[in-house]
Amino acid sequence: MTLIFGHRGYSLIAPENTMTAFIKAEQAGAEGIELDVQLTKDGELAVIHDEKVDRTTNGKGYVKDYLAQDLQKLDASYTFKGLEETPRIPLLREVFEWMKNNEIICNIELKNNELPYEGMEEKVIQLIREYHYEQRVIISSFNHYSLTHFYQLAPDIETAPLYSSNLYMPWTYAQAIRAKAIHPNIRTLNNHIIQSSLESGVSVRPYTVNKEKQMRWLIEQKCSAFFTDDPKKALAVRKEIVGR
Ligand code: G3P
Ligand code: CA
Repeated sequence: MTLIFGHRGYSLIAPENTMTAFIKAEQAGAEGIELDVQLTKDGELAVIHDEKVDRTTNGKGYVKDYLAQDLQKLDASYTFKGLEETPRIPLLREVFEWMKNNEIICNIELKNNELPYEGMEEKVIQLIREYHYEQRVIISSFNHYSLTHFYQLAPDIETAPLYSSNLYMPWTYAQAIRAKAIHPNIRTLNNHIIQSSLESGVSVRPYTVNKEKQMRWLIEQKCSAFFTDDPKKALAVRKEIVGR
């Protein structure tokens, strides 16, 4: 069955990459969430998509120049107005704490393709080990050097390359870098890639799938999972096709 992952949480109805968005995705019935991590000045893993805080918060500047405690004072409401509580930028640890009370799978995207974030892989592994979440996380990145480094440090934790151009035989590429899955942009995907990957034991989880027609196609193809801003819609489509 195709699993549904809330992209940056349930980002259609809540500020992306906030606890509210993750909680809403889980409550909607999504099997997974996707989130992005950056490193603060004091080396904490902060859950935010951009290198800078400008787009999604009321602050300015780079995440790497903020202490975690100052970063967490920012208002992360993004474009959402009149919320009951001011959403904050969570630390990955807070998300992991919340995961103790549910069975959600967490795709952690390492946002180290723009800034190198030395030591990020080690910090993520340490936290996963502390919580024993080896089977509940998937590590992805557009930085494939980082993924191979991650694999060398923690071969038991699943990695998956993100990509947005038309790769030739991406399932063999995934195997070459010891990844268990591919996370392609939906625009690069076709039936041949889905089926060849699945037959090779490589999971396929495209992003970002918000159109009903594309959801339907992926579910009918028995694609492993997909990332969507609207998990409720995806779950309704899946229920219609496979009954759950
Ligand atoms: O992990 C899939 C997707 O999140 C990658 O793109 O820009 O939304 O982080 P982006
Ligand atoms: Ca992402």
